[in-house]
Amino acid sequence: MPETAPKSAREAATGTSSGALGRGAGETFDDAERLSEEALRELQLTRLRASLRYAYDRVPFYRESFDRAGVHPDDCRSLADLARFPFTVKDDLRAQYPFGMFAVPKEEVRRIHASSGTTGRPTVVGYTERDLSRWADVVARSIHAAGGRPGHTVHIAYGYGLFTGGLGAHYGAERLGCTVVPASGGMTARQVQIIQDFRPEIIMVTPSYMLTLLDEFERQGIDPRATSLKVGIFGAEPWTQEMRREIEERFAIDAVDIYGLSEVMGPGVAQECLETKDGLHIWEDHFYPEVVDPFTGEVLPDGEHGELVFTSLTKEAMPVIRYRTRDLTRLLPGTARAAFRRMEKITGRSDDMIILRGVNLFPAQIEEIVLRTPGVAPHFQLRLTREGRMDHLTVRAEARPDATPEERTAAVGGIARGVKDGIGVSVAVEIVDPETLERSVGKIKRIVDARPRGES
Ligand code: DLL
Repeated sequence: MPETAPKSAREAATGTSSGALGRGAGETFDDAERLSEEALRELQLTRLRASLRYAYDRVPFYRESFDRAGVHPDDCRSLADLARFPFTVKDDLRAQYPFGMFAVPKEEVRRIHASSGTTGRPTVVGYTERDLSRWADVVARSIHAAGGRPGHTVHIAYGYGLFTGGLGAHYGAERLGCTVVPASGGMTARQVQIIQDFRPEIIMVTPSYMLTLLDEFERQGIDPRATSLKVGIFGAEPWTQEMRREIEERFAIDAVDIYGLSEVMGPGVAQECLETKDGLHIWEDHFYPEVVDPFTGEVLPDGEHGELVFTSLTKEAMPVIRYRTRDLTRLLPGTARAAFRRMEKITGRSDDMIILRGVNLFPAQIEEIVLRTPGVAPHFQLRLTREGRMDHLTVRAEARPDATPEERTAAVGGIARGVKDGIGVSVAVEIVDPETLERSVGKIKRIVDARPRGES
């Protein structure tokens, strides 16, 4: 087991703990990460053709949808040919509730997860034994890219249950050879105690719940910069560079991004590398990405912003073909893992886009502004109301406990100006007292829609 030195005084003082886990840049978890781009593309094409054929042969939904579009798996001769195949959307999965998308008999399904289903039926996903093993592999690869090594202790505060976060992270950390603390979400005071006593090097949690933990450390009078933690692997919701700085500074750790979605697998579809922190490398040997124009569906060249679409290359229980994630980002060339393209940090989901008097706005844009404002804590909420025929947005942000009355007043104007200048729309701003906004225990809900029902 690699010994990790306790956080040095210099690191604790400056927060520059990069490389604190003693990793060599470019070190990889498995051979696939070192594939050349050419070899990766070849592997993808072989797997893509097999996956299209597999889905067509085994899932009536795909057979019907390909037939309707007039395409056949044999039509895929190059990776670009994928664009000829029809998309799959969340409603397609809902319509097949619960097991209609499965490509194997129920007896071969070892695990089921489901999305929360805030609107209508939940989306159900299934995994064979091999799917679970591959999932553990990609999560192990992700934790490794984040600096994790065998022998490290990983505190997992993603929720365990039908949500893929907890169990997905769990088996990946075990696969890497880590000691896992399956804390799940909630019971925040106890989490702090456990972190103090078990001394994990790594925490896996939503960034918003990390902020809840931060409050609790402070409430208990414990310096969050003095913990054993060196790296946080944060995902399951959008978070900005400003939030990275806030968390890194307040905890004196490195913060890296992990992405995934249950329909495609769960956490571990893409991971940011510790040594570069420049966006997330998509594990393209298992998940083939495209970015499309969200309105026309046209495939966009790498570098252009649009909606991320995934095709699974190796999944058995529930293959997905051109699944539209609704997540907005762009593809960039590989860096720390040369052959694997990166996705830029997600700027928002099309579902979370607020259209305010004709202007599109995402919670992440507000996060950037709030976090840059002196005297304001990283806790905020967006409240939508309607007066007459006009929608109004109020940014409710919490004052930091040490904020002066002048800072609070200045913050109202500062945030409103930031939104007007940066996004181009007028909003109301309310600075509320410390610890008044609801705290997250998992994925945070930023938008409170208080408009009359049925009219939004
Ligand atoms: O959130 C899987 C996951 C668990 C990922 C733990 C990372 C860590 P779902 O509940 O199906 O799965 O939600 C998937 O969450 O389409 C994105 O909109 C959002 N999301 C996930 N990771 C990120 C991220 C899990 N790193 C949906 N940045 C996705 C921004 C993210 N959004």
